[in-house]
Amino acid sequence: MAEAEFSTLVEVSLRVNGERVSRRVEARRHLIDFLRLDLGLTGSHAGCEHGVCGACTVRVDGEIVRGCLTLAAQLDGADVWTIEGLSDTGEVRDLQQAFVARNALQCGYCTPGMLATCADLLERSPAPSRAEIREHISGNYCRCTGYEAIIDAVETVAAARRAATGQVAIGQATIGETAE
Ligand code: FES
Ligand code: FES
Repeated sequence: MAEAEFSTLVEVSLRVNGERVSRRVEARRHLIDFLRLDLGLTGSHAGCEHGVCGACTVRVDGEIVRGCLTLAAQLDGADVWTIEGLSDTGEVRDLQQAFVARNALQCGYCTPGMLATCADLLERSPAPSRAEIREHISGNYCRCTGYEAIIDAVETVAAARRAATGQVAIGQATIGETAE
C-alpha cells in the first residue's frame, strides 16, 4: 500500500466501553494508539508494538486482541472494551482485588492486559488448572512478578466465583450444584 493510502482517513463508528464513538482515523492507526491518543484511554499500554508482549490486550467483540496489531479502521461497528470499562462495570473487580492481595503486580505495566486476559480465561473456563492459567497468560509478559502470584490470584478468583454461584469443580470440569 502506498504512503498516501496509509494516510487515508477512514470513518469509523464503534462502541468503546459501552459508549458510541465516531471518528475519522488514518488507515494505519493502530487500535492501541486510537484508544490512548485519540480517546485518552491510557489504561491499555503499548509495549513491544509488534504483538509479542500483550500489554495492549483489549476486548473486541468478545475476543481479546492485540491493540498493536489491530487497525482502528477495521473496527467499524465493533464493541471494544478496555481496562477502564472493565473496571467501571465491576467485571474485573475481584481480579483486581486478588492481584493486590496476592502481590500479583509491581510496576503494573502488564496489568491491564493481564487482567483482560485473565477475565477472558475465567469467562471460558470457570475452573482452570494452574497449567491452563499459565498457558492462557503465556502471551502476556510480566517482567516483575514471576507469574506465580498472578496464577495464585486467578485461582483464588475462580474458586470464589464458583463458590458464589454454587458451582463445584470436579477435576477440570465444573458443574452446578443441585442446591436446595
Ligand atoms: S504492545 Fe501489543 S503485544 Fe506488545
Ligand atoms: S507488574 Fe511489572 S511487568 Fe508485570
